[in-house]
Amino acid sequence: MSRSGEKVALVTGGGRRIGAAISRRLAREGFTVALTYRASREEASSLAREIGGRAFPLDLLRPSGIPRLRAAMRREFGRLDLLVHNAAVFPRTPVGGLRAREWDGIFAVNLRGPFLLTQSLLPLLRAAPGGAVLFLGDAGAAKLWPGHLPYCLSKIALAHQAAAWKTILAPEVRVGLVEPGFALIPPGFPEGEWRRLRSRGGVPGPDTPGKVAGAVLQFVRGGGYNFSVP
Ligand SMILES: NC(=O)c1ccc[n+]([C@@H]2O[C@H](COP(=O)([O-])OP(=O)(O)OC[C@H]3O[C@@H](n4cnc5c(N)ncnc54)[C@H](OP(=O)(O)O)[C@@H]3O)[C@@H](O)[C@H]2O)c1
Repeated sequence: MSRSGEKVALVTGGGRRIGAAISRRLAREGFTVALTYRASREEASSLAREIGGRAFPLDLLRPSGIPRLRAAMRREFGRLDLLVHNAAVFPRTPVGGLRAREWDGIFAVNLRGPFLLTQSLLPLLRAAPGGAVLFLGDAGAAKLWPGHLPYCLSKIALAHQAAAWKTILAPEVRVGLVEPGFALIPPGFPEGEWRRLRSRGGVPGPDTPGKVAGAVLQFVRGGGYNFSVP
């Protein structure tokens, strides 16, 4: 159970990078934070200890883990007030040699995962007064970067998924979309290229992990990030 009626948030991929900034900020806001990890077990467990939360394994390439996570949320906390879809993959996929398996993997993690997880956790979210779901999109996705085309398409589709959930779940569950700009250089991304893109003004949207976490908090407090998707 959550500590004496504290609200509970679940942050996917919440153990490191932007997800860790979100988890920390939510814990400071008074949430009991459950965070999921795929490869970063140690970092996630250590962060969970630091903020008094819990870390759970979840691989969105394997949907069979979703009912296990739901059972763990029920058992450990008995409630869920906020679901933050932060986990994603951002592989470089230059046009020319993309394999079907790579495409499917990107869409499985970035698009199918958030759908199945939202669906599975709906009873808990609906039972929470003021339950909320927040999706992490990408302010630059509409640029359709040729080196990351499936990623961009998955994030554009994710924004539409968020809009659909917003309609389906209103008014009991609030839905939001935060679209970061160039917030944190992805591992392996060429540093010079990153600096060049940022110095050209980047793309609109929170452009540090702290600002992304601040945007999450703004949504949690009831403001902003109620959005429209064309
Ligand atoms: N970085 C930016 O500047 C930027 C810009 C625009 C949008 N965004 C969006 O903001 C969010 C956070 O960005 P980020 O750069 O911090 O993301 P990231 O480091 O690329 O990935 C976030 C987490 O996703 C988890 N993950 C990866 N594959 C997974 C899988 N198969 N199943 C479950 N979890 C998986 C990873 O957990 P493990 O480490 O445990 O494997 C990782 O820590 C993402 O949705 C991203 O698309 C970021």
